[in-house]
Amino acid sequence: MPTRLAHRLSVIVPSATLAINARAQALKASGVDVISFGAGEPDFDTPSNIRDAGVEAIEKGRTRYTPVAGVSELRNAIAAHSTALRGVAMKAENVVVTVGAKGALFNLALSLFEPGDEVVIPAPYWVSYPEQVRLAGAEPVFVESSLDTGWKMRPEALARALTPKTKAVVLCTPSNPTGAAYSADELHALAEVLRAHDCWVILDEIYAALVYDGFVQQSMMRVAPDLAARMVIIDGVSKTYAMTGWRVGWSIAPTPLSKAMEMVQSQGATSTATPSQWAALEALRSPALELDQMRSIFQLRRDRLLAGLRSIAGIRCGTPEGAFYAFCDVQGLLGRRTPEGQTLSDDAALAAWLLDAAHVAVVPGSAFGAPGHMRLSYAVSVEQIDRAVERIAKAVASLA
Ligand SMILES: Cc1ncc(COP(=O)(O)O)c(C=O)c1O
Repeated sequence: MPTRLAHRLSVIVPSATLAINARAQALKASGVDVISFGAGEPDFDTPSNIRDAGVEAIEKGRTRYTPVAGVSELRNAIAAHSTALRGVAMKAENVVVTVGAKGALFNLALSLFEPGDEVVIPAPYWVSYPEQVRLAGAEPVFVESSLDTGWKMRPEALARALTPKTKAVVLCTPSNPTGAAYSADELHALAEVLRAHDCWVILDEIYAALVYDGFVQQSMMRVAPDLAARMVIIDGVSKTYAMTGWRVGWSIAPTPLSKAMEMVQSQGATSTATPSQWAALEALRSPALELDQMRSIFQLRRDRLLAGLRSIAGIRCGTPEGAFYAFCDVQGLLGRRTPEGQTLSDDAALAAWLLDAAHVAVVPGSAFGAPGHMRLSYAVSVEQIDRAVERIAKAVASLA
């Protein structure tokens, strides 16, 4: 059958977060006042100095191809930024600038994973990790965690998941979808397990700048520099600088792997957009002030949302250390009947009903490997948070 699609597509699913967003957008377009906690992106505009740098790049004619791994000014700035952040010297030659952090992870998956490999992923997980692993023909192996342990992977659980087939372990801290961030002690304990096992360690630190209550964000790179020869940093400007649409991320990896990822990118994307690279350079040079402001707004929203959700019987949530997500246990609402006569059998049914009945968009936890939960991205105003909590509370009160 020459017209059939490749078999690899049968093992993956589309991004659930993008799907719920599309549904919420369609409802909005039809005139419904939907409050959406679905999007994994800041609602702020890209700061003006960064926008100006993008415009200036276009005006200066910086509109042609760049080297595959990115313009050298940006790679140098990324290496310096990462060295300062993680306390381990990193070189520009090990940086590959990519089409968002997702592009870096994609290059990585194609460079490292193949049939027979296992990749350990703590659950709940960001939706693209398992799908990219499967696209590369490898097997994701999930390590469960729970609200009661702060959504952190325990060292014993990691040790149990490692096998001779384990090619890599992914660690996302602060985490999407839970917001959980590992302390230095917790990272030490995980590193001790990894030390005894020869595998890659993938550190997705795209939310590193977004931590609250004075939490001290640490990279495993700083905590366990002896593992640097098999560590890959994934980072980018999307979340920290409200630049999701500019599509700039990067990987920092040991030379042979970096070269492989560069080669994959050379055949898939060439490079990311040239004006975006210059804008990202400006982002890394930005004064901390704007970032501090965004961080305090997120903290205010987090506290408001958590207080509101905790006041609703049937919803349980912890206090995430970072990112901009609240990940709640909603098992107390499952099995109950709606006024329309529907039984809320699972988290997907609950999310669909909240969208229809309360016009509030949330993402079901099953999308992240944690059925019975829901994720709310608090990239919305405090005023919207208050209205949404009111709507959810009213809808929940109507359940039999
Ligand atoms: C944990 C995590 N890693 C990577 C990405 C990808 O970011 P980018 O938009 O830079 O591709 C996201 C975006 O949602 C994310 O949440």
